[in-house]
Amino acid sequence: MRRTIDWADDAVVIIDQTALPGEFRLLHLRTVGELVDAIKRLAVRGAPALGAAGALGVALAARTGDDLEADARLIATARPTAVNLAWGVERALAKRREGPEAILEEAKALLDEDEELNKAASKHAAEVVLHECPRRPLRLLSHCNAGRLATVGWGSALGVVWHLHERGLVEEVLVDETRPLLQGARLTAWELAQENVPYRVQPDGAAAAAMANGMVDCVLVGADRIAANGDVANKIGTYGLAIAARHHGIPFVVVAPSSTVDTTLETGAGIAIEERDARELTHHAGTPVTPPDTRVFNPAFDVTPYELVTAVVTEHGRLEP
Ligand code: MRU
Repeated sequence: MRRTIDWADDAVVIIDQTALPGEFRLLHLRTVGELVDAIKRLAVRGAPALGAAGALGVALAARTGDDLEADARLIATARPTAVNLAWGVERALAKRREGPEAILEEAKALLDEDEELNKAASKHAAEVVLHECPRRPLRLLSHCNAGRLATVGWGSALGVVWHLHERGLVEEVLVDETRPLLQGARLTAWELAQENVPYRVQPDGAAAAAMANGMVDCVLVGADRIAANGDVANKIGTYGLAIAARHHGIPFVVVAPSSTVDTTLETGAGIAIEERDARELTHHAGTPVTPPDTRVFNPAFDVTPYELVTAVVTEHGRLEP
């Protein structure tokens, strides 16, 4: 598969994740405005992919805009929770004195590293899973999308599935549909189908029942920001999964590149949680599904306390708080 996000023909080229699985479509983003809009609409999404978007966005701004610092701020704040976005922006911006070409080279270097770092993190995590879970082959539970589409290439939590599947060790992946935007049903299921990994999609509410029924050996998730004490922000519903996994004695493993770790925050309490548009809940495919003027609580992420996490794994291996 091609990269989720790349640079070509003087544009940021992304796989349009709003169109999958129905249509595989590329978008060429030629202005900072188009890139920011794509980030906000989740056409490009997932923490490591957002890091790449941040760096390439600064490269775009350096070539097309007239106020680099203002454009960089716009990009870095397009979504608040994944620390990778601001990290990618800062990394590219650090080259501003050397000019647009140096910025672009730095952004391209970040993209090149992403796949290697995710491969390394997920390889370490595969060993942790094999160590923590005695049953073979494994039944794994996935939430949101932490696959190729959430990174430049390979994936983090789903990268673990690729490593284990290569070794014939995966019986099934239970895929949380991940309401309200269905990253699990639309994107994770699509990636697993491409790789011929057996999977079933389940409503998010079925996860605890699947654990109670003995259908899950390990929960594998990615992360959007990890605080210094190991608390993990990830897609809404992750915290509930961790509680259910602990209740049933099931390992709960978090996989992320170290660019997702934010040591400026002592605990997860300091992580900004994005709240998204009410229409994601009040409407389904454009049709209202709630009474008029219904108010909503629609956080995109939650924070799982480290005490519920079996292991946080990066390219450096198991991370200690
Ligand atoms: O709102 P999204 O789709 O950007 O949320 C993404 C997630 O929560 C992923 O699990 C996380 O970014 C890890 S991706 C390797």
